[in-house]
Amino acid sequence: MKTTQQAVTFIPSNESRSAKRERRALQGQAVAGQQEPFWKKLGLLAGDEEGPDTTNRQPFGPHSLKGPHRLHPAPHRASTMTFAAAYPFITESGLGHEGTYIGSDVFGSGAFSYDPWVLYDKGVISGPSIVIIGTVGTGKSMCAKSFVARSITLGRKAAVASDPKGEWVPVANAVGGKVISVGPGRSTRVNPLDAGPRSRDLSNAQWQAVVRQRRRQLLVALVSLMRQGVPMHPVEHTALDMALTEAVAANETPTLPMVLGYLLNPSKETRELVGPDGGRAVAHSLRRTVSGDLEGMFDAPSTVSFDADAPMMVMDTSALIGASEQALSLAAACGATWLEAAITNPDGGKRIVVYDEGWRMLADPYMLVKMSEQWRLARTYGIANLLIMHKVADLNEIGDSTSGHRQKALGLLTEADTRIIYRQKHDSMRLTKDALGLTEAECGQVEELPKGVGLWKVGNRSFIVANQVTSDELSVFSTDHRMMP
Ligand SMILES: Nc1ncnc2c1ncn2[C@@H]1O[C@H](COP(=O)(O)OP(=O)(O)OP(=O)(O)O)[C@@H](O)[C@H]1O
Ligand SMILES: [Mg+2]
Repeated sequence: MKTTQQAVTFIPSNESRSAKRERRALQGQAVAGQQEPFWKKLGLLAGDEEGPDTTNRQPFGPHSLKGPHRLHPAPHRASTMTFAAAYPFITESGLGHEGTYIGSDVFGSGAFSYDPWVLYDKGVISGPSIVIIGTVGTGKSMCAKSFVARSITLGRKAAVASDPKGEWVPVANAVGGKVISVGPGRSTRVNPLDAGPRSRDLSNAQWQAVVRQRRRQLLVALVSLMRQGVPMHPVEHTALDMALTEAVAANETPTLPMVLGYLLNPSKETRELVGPDGGRAVAHSLRRTVSGDLEGMFDAPSTVSFDADAPMMVMDTSALIGASEQALSLAAACGATWLEAAITNPDGGKRIVVYDEGWRMLADPYMLVKMSEQWRLARTYGIANLLIMHKVADLNEIGDSTSGHRQKALGLLTEADTRIIYRQKHDSMRLTKDALGLTEAECGQVEELPKGVGLWKVGNRSFIVANQVTSDELSVFSTDHRMMP
């Protein structure tokens, strides 16, 4: 059955009045079936003699929603939440003024403030951990330093668990914090077997179990590091346990040389249990921490104490620059265990814990376990971990792609609810996009970001933020002194 042909009209934007009149007349005729379709007369469909497929089209009319009527949609109003999906950055309503001033919201044109505890309280984020990622010299440390220093003026505290370049020392000095510098030639001694401040909630027995567990883990980690991952024999575990128990019985706060002494000269009871040489190989593995390149750092009672009231504590390991990877790992394990004992105290107040150049720590199995624990228990301890690294691809050097170690390290990035991305090179973007859950629009922005400007992903909100620093801050936080002509 032949149907009456109707058409979609193509109206030139500069259509004159007479042309409009003629078109309308033709349309009227076409609808009435008196003439051939008007589009043929107007020559709008040259080369298409059949015209458009108009089968099943409805007749023109006010309800057909097609035809010669121009569309005049009514102004549409939607919430910023709805628009944010279509126009990220631009339609953000902001995170509010509470918290530490970071800088300006580039697209929102307002001030940008941030505080993980405030945002957690408001339900914007579900965890206080932060990751800052960006290529060399883009302003990651500057952002972290200004955030930490300003947060301290608002009553927060900070601990820098890794400072391999020593660049947090001036920050600590500026805010009245304390610096613990370990390394060859430094007089400071840090005993990684220190118990640390005790939590009020724990009974005597619970506290002893916590300390014992921490000491055991460290000793096993030090031996594994020396053996490059070769696992310890069950007999060796027993020997190490017995040596630790005997050292603790003799001295409430044992040191590594004491444990080593009991391993080399086991008691009668230990000898009966593990044989005369059961702990000898472990002793030799552990010896490097008290002699050799780490001698005089972690092998005596601490000459410093963790000052829980100090606004900032920095573990400066810059004197170890140039040391072997193994020595750096051993030092990181000892330093971090000591610091962890101090910061994982629920009574210690709210504290930001910084891991600058964090990829080195992620590559270390023991440190990764420690960091994962701190990530997981951040809310319990009232700490906000802040990990700084260059690119996600750095994790590719850890194990193979399916290794549990690499997946765990990646997990720390993906679990961080605040992700700050500074400029990334194009070839690093794909991994960053996947690991940090960036959209295409965000990736496009990240590749173009100038120095000092970062993309902040806070929960599921996005902001482009220019970190504003004063000239006084710049003179303390800058890392460019050695680049000056
Ligand atoms: N927001 C800023 N305002 C002004 N200058 C800045 C800003 N951010 C960074 N800079 C300048 O860039 C330099 C490098 O910054 P920063 O040390 O933070 O880089 P980085 O990303 O941590 O580098 P690296 O990867 O080498 O650790 C600073 O010394 C400072 O001079
Ligand atoms: Mg840096």
